[in-house]
Amino acid sequence: MRLDNVKALVTGAGSGIGEAISSHFRREGARLLLTSRRERLDTARPDDLYVPGDLNDESFVEALARQAAESFGTVEVVVLNHGLQASSPLTEMSREDAKNVLESNLLSAFLVMKHFAPLMPSAGGAFVCVSSRLGMVGKAGEVLYSAAKGGLIMLAKGAAIEWAARNIRVNVVAPGLTVTPIIEASFQRSADPEARRRERETQIPLQRLATPGEVADAVLFLASSESTYVTGAVLPVDGGYTAF
Ligand SMILES: NC(=O)c1ccc[n+]([C@@H]2O[C@H](COP(=O)([O-])OP(=O)(O)OC[C@H]3O[C@@H](n4cnc5c(N)ncnc54)[C@H](OP(=O)(O)O)[C@@H]3O)[C@@H](O)[C@H]2O)c1
Repeated sequence: MRLDNVKALVTGAGSGIGEAISSHFRREGARLLLTSRRERLDTARPDDLYVPGDLNDESFVEALARQAAESFGTVEVVVLNHGLQASSPLTEMSREDAKNVLESNLLSAFLVMKHFAPLMPSAGGAFVCVSSRLGMVGKAGEVLYSAAKGGLIMLAKGAAIEWAARNIRVNVVAPGLTVTPIIEASFQRSADPEARRRERETQIPLQRLATPGEVADAVLFLASSESTYVTGAVLPVDGGYTAF
């Protein structure tokens, strides 16, 4: 098993991609600390430790790190999967909404990195950040989300250099459009959901959306000992969307 007895934090664990990452990690033998904002996580297993809270709140992140230290001692892997999608024309976005997008995708990731790096053992550890294809290319109507996910990539690259001497690796997975409940719901809101889905698929070289499991495969690779010489890297899992 690739994560035998590895203690891992997965954020945004309640969602499609977070759920798939948790399930892959469990299968590979990891001990899981899961978090999201919902009070209960129905997909958590009895051996998992679930701690709900808002990662935009530094006092919660500190409490989560304390809980991790008490329960696990050290944490070898941290997956920063939480995030907030936001679609709105730039001129119609309020300062408060923009701040929320930047905090939920970028500042909160900084807070988790800051408070969990000290918990990594002296032999090292791995952070895996879940950014987006939109962290690498711009898109009308998703400008703030794109800016936050691009910022997350640079946060990871800088931290990879700063922590290399401690053998803490920091990498990024940049998914393309992935079949999760939030994406399915966005199709359902359009007049012709099937036509909307086909339209989005035709924009992707592989002509289909990703599954959450395909994104989780990439996260698992970057979290495991199969990638011990990989740090500061961005792995697109987007069917070729950013290959142009
Ligand atoms: N699905 C896609 O097509 C796609 C494409 C590219 C990138 N991504 C990225 O992949 C990640 C997962 O995507 P998804 O579609 O599975 O996401 P999702 O269904 O929107 O779920 C996001 C998760 O993040 C948590 N979260 C958001 N803000 C938080 C905060 N301030 N504090 C704590 N938890 C917070 C949510 O908790 P609650 O559920 O409790 O609110 C939820 O568990 C996100 O970072 C997203 O930006 C997704």
